[in-house]
Amino acid sequence: MVGVLERVGEVHLKTQPFWFFLRFRACRTGRAARSLPRATQGHLRRKQQKHFPAKETAIRRSVAWCKLAFHRRCTDVIPTLIWRLSGAPFVAYTAVMSFRAQHLLGIEHLAPDEITSLLDLAETYAELNRSDIKHAEALKGLTQINMFFEASTRTQASFELAGKRLGADVMNMQMSASSLKKGETLIDTALTLNAMHPDLLVVRHPSSGAVSLLAQKVNCAVLNAGDGRHEHPTQALLDALTIRRAKGRLHRLTIAICGDIAHSRVARSNIHLLGKMENRVRLVGPPTLMPAQAGEWGVEIATDMRDGLEDADVVMMLRLQKERMDGAFIPSEREYFHRFGLDAEKLSNAKPDAIVMHPGPMNRGVEIDGTIADDINRSVIQVQVVMGVAVRMAAMDLLGRN
Ligand code: NCD
Repeated sequence: MVGVLERVGEVHLKTQPFWFFLRFRACRTGRAARSLPRATQGHLRRKQQKHFPAKETAIRRSVAWCKLAFHRRCTDVIPTLIWRLSGAPFVAYTAVMSFRAQHLLGIEHLAPDEITSLLDLAETYAELNRSDIKHAEALKGLTQINMFFEASTRTQASFELAGKRLGADVMNMQMSASSLKKGETLIDTALTLNAMHPDLLVVRHPSSGAVSLLAQKVNCAVLNAGDGRHEHPTQALLDALTIRRAKGRLHRLTIAICGDIAHSRVARSNIHLLGKMENRVRLVGPPTLMPAQAGEWGVEIATDMRDGLEDADVVMMLRLQKERMDGAFIPSEREYFHRFGLDAEKLSNAKPDAIVMHPGPMNRGVEIDGTIADDINRSVIQVQVVMGVAVRMAAMDLLGRN
């Protein structure tokens, strides 16, 4: 007697290895999925090969189709016939793409499967961005407002481009410094904007926590484009995608995050993300730029670059964020470069194939030597910019759906 169980929710493939997929039924989008770019299919295939025995080709293909079908926005929930090795097969409704968040305020509250889903979708947008016609309709008819209370070039441009490529109506608000004087001003601004019925609000603010506060006051999805020294989730996601593409995986890597950790929201978001994906994270910098609570973050700490970079797979450099410093944290920039600036000699302590990253803007001769930044064999700084647009497209697409 065959027992059939219907379940709504997601099936964690990785954590339930005693199940394997026999066949996908009612995957009404196989036709559309097959026309997706080869690189995407290859990536999914490699992922599936890790979790399923090599012989199960048909099964792997079904899983890949299932994922691709979702990317094509054909379906969110796919009925799946699952054969349990212990006995009875059953039908499970598998939400292939699991991204439940309503806002993207930080990495701290994202689950590893949500991060993976977002990166998988970003992979397809990276493909789209390489084609001649870089246009999709995921946000067609939706309104995106970018509110940057802090100067930004690349992040704002990246969000604007991402929204336009997805067909949204994008508006950039120039927020003057004077509007920051009172806490109420931010909320008042938010309420005014809310009355205009935006669907996505992209916010950068110099105060940690300001973006979460704003998210409580509006009815639309809010994306944090950097709040004070708190979080910068899309930067960590684009860094993760860059690492996954360069290294072929996003787990069991040694990642050295170097420089001004104390004032960096990029560092905080990356520590959350890389830790959730089971990597070894090492913070490297002078004690004056190391947050007092870093010892509780489950990371290694080094105050010498040569020790900190030893056997690293990834070297992530950070800018000295002077706009957030209230005093002198280093004797001089020259001295800082000598001890903590990334040059060929210090980099030689990392693995020979280690990649070099920087979120930008970069200060050559302060935290990084120009020749290292431009070394096409080591530096993936330009790739980070490319991945930024794809990740932001994926994030806004998912929030637009939710
Ligand atoms: C980062 C930021 O704003 O936090 N830059 C960015 O998003 N492009 C890092 C930095 O400013 O150093």
